[in-house]
Amino acid sequence: MCGIVGFVGDKNAVEPVLCGLRNLEYRGYDSAGVAFYDGSKIRNVKQAGRVAALENELVDLDIINTKTAIGHTRWATHGTPTKLNAHPHYNKDKTIFVVHNGIIENHQELRSMLEAKGYHFVSHTDTEVVPHLIDFYYQKTKDMEQAFTSAINDLSGAYAIVMMSEIEPNKILAAKLSSPLAIGVGKKNNMVGSDASAVADAAKKIVYLEDYEIAIVEKNKYKIRNLKNKKIVTRNPEDLLLEDVRSSKGSFEHFMLKEIHEAPKTIQNAILGRIKIETNEIKLGGLDSVANQLRNIDRIIIVSCGTSYIAGLVGEYLIEELAEVPVEVQLASEFKYRKEPYSPNTAILAISQSGETADTIAALKKIEPQGLLTLGIVNSPGSTISRMTKAGIYCHAGPEISVASTKAFTAQVTILVLLALSLGKNRSKLYKDLLVELASLPKTAEKILSLSPAIKEIAIRYSHHRDFMFIGRGYEYPVALEGSLKLKEISYIHAEAYAGGELKHGPLALIDENFPTLALASSPTLFDKTASNIQEIKARGGKTIVVTTKKQQKHFKTIADDLIIIPEVSDQLSPILEAIVVQLFSYFIAAEKGCDIDKPRNLAKSVTVE
Ligand code: M6R
Repeated sequence: MCGIVGFVGDKNAVEPVLCGLRNLEYRGYDSAGVAFYDGSKIRNVKQAGRVAALENELVDLDIINTKTAIGHTRWATHGTPTKLNAHPHYNKDKTIFVVHNGIIENHQELRSMLEAKGYHFVSHTDTEVVPHLIDFYYQKTKDMEQAFTSAINDLSGAYAIVMMSEIEPNKILAAKLSSPLAIGVGKKNNMVGSDASAVADAAKKIVYLEDYEIAIVEKNKYKIRNLKNKKIVTRNPEDLLLEDVRSSKGSFEHFMLKEIHEAPKTIQNAILGRIKIETNEIKLGGLDSVANQLRNIDRIIIVSCGTSYIAGLVGEYLIEELAEVPVEVQLASEFKYRKEPYSPNTAILAISQSGETADTIAALKKIEPQGLLTLGIVNSPGSTISRMTKAGIYCHAGPEISVASTKAFTAQVTILVLLALSLGKNRSKLYKDLLVELASLPKTAEKILSLSPAIKEIAIRYSHHRDFMFIGRGYEYPVALEGSLKLKEISYIHAEAYAGGELKHGPLALIDENFPTLALASSPTLFDKTASNIQEIKARGGKTIVVTTKKQQKHFKTIADDLIIIPEVSDQLSPILEAIVVQLFSYFIAAEKGCDIDKPRNLAKSVTVE
């Protein structure tokens, strides 16, 4: 994970770097640091904690005349999140400074080699080998670009690395392998950063670096070289889109609440221009280029992580029912270990909000040699996964800032409905009705949001519990998983999720008066089965909150402790609405507990390490 920013230009370099770091805090927020050239030497300021803590350290320093600076916000992998382990790291005479995202797998071996040559280490990070290694090669060659290249060639693992040196203080050198890095191109200044938001302060255009490329960035020019064939790479910069840049939370207390409230707009944006009710059509332009291949697929494997994995589970139900294509959802982190046979007509569908999740990228890399059709459902335009997959559908949900994913799930499931319907157009009897219902779903989502005060009141009453159970059946089972993930992630309450039918196969033993259950029971076809679960829980003294519809509430009125009544929709669309309920429920519990909702402990928005 971690976020990287660098600036080289003709004005206060530290400001745009700090602005980039603030935008990048979603990638990690354990500690932060900057290095900047003050005209005579490089100064280095680091601090444990948030970027705000680093800014406090900089208040009394003269940073106006700095023209080159690099910065980093960290999510600890090797070494605890302390000031000592914060980046930038440096060589012994503090002339070479490096920031790094990723993991250097051979750091121990390199460290031993360098220690044997007299190099002394001060941190517990894998990163610190890099400035020493560059120093080692510089002492031999007296050529910084050559030294940087030789050091990079020695590394294995995954990295985005940016360095500045006192030897050439008006240059930033950068390299990448399996971790995103881009050059932000401005007027009389250039930047480097982990994503578009990192460079937005001073750049109007952006060039994404590819694996095995190094970049030499100066204020008026930059050069990219391929490390393998040593050739100069020419790549036109793209416009830096405003939607790529991080937004503000407006009048909402947290980004998470704002993003939940964006659900109606999110559904609308996901279907915009893609469905035509009058002609009964779905148009997924991003799949046009592979339309013929899609007609012949006989199996889909969905690979994803976390909330995107749960969206994939909804996709499995949808595509199997509506398109009659067998689907399997695999955790991307496990997919790479499996040795399974694939038919040539298998398609791999990667789902990812960020498009930068290392496990999902590794899953796609594993499958590369098979030459199978790879598809993506991705939110971040231009991200690694969107570029790695042969075709795909963008979520168009806009930047998601809160670490807990909410609107991305809404968009992903909406798109999976579109995909399932489009693949099953000539097969599914439900095609037309679902299409019409989908078109009105943004309005129905608004009705769910209007239930916020009632959901908040219930959430506050249950906020003192240490444990929680979520249950659901069919399409509602993945929503139970999502509710439990959301609650534990932002409130640190232990939460379990089970398919209703599994309850009596073990987890029922947990239930007592201190272990409440949130049951998803709005399905017009499965509500009665879930009602039996509620009876079983009640018989063991367990409290229940039941999410159901006006029509079905009579079945739960006498047995549930609390009811949340939502509008009725078809089974296939219910996860989109019920997810909003569990998101709000988790949010209000976490808010009542005073948790750091947008930046929960130990987590980061984009999980760019395996
Ligand atoms: O960016 P991705 O969708 O690939 O991220 C996958 C997970 O890391 C992510 O969904 C994570 O589980 C969220 N924090 C859950 O709210």
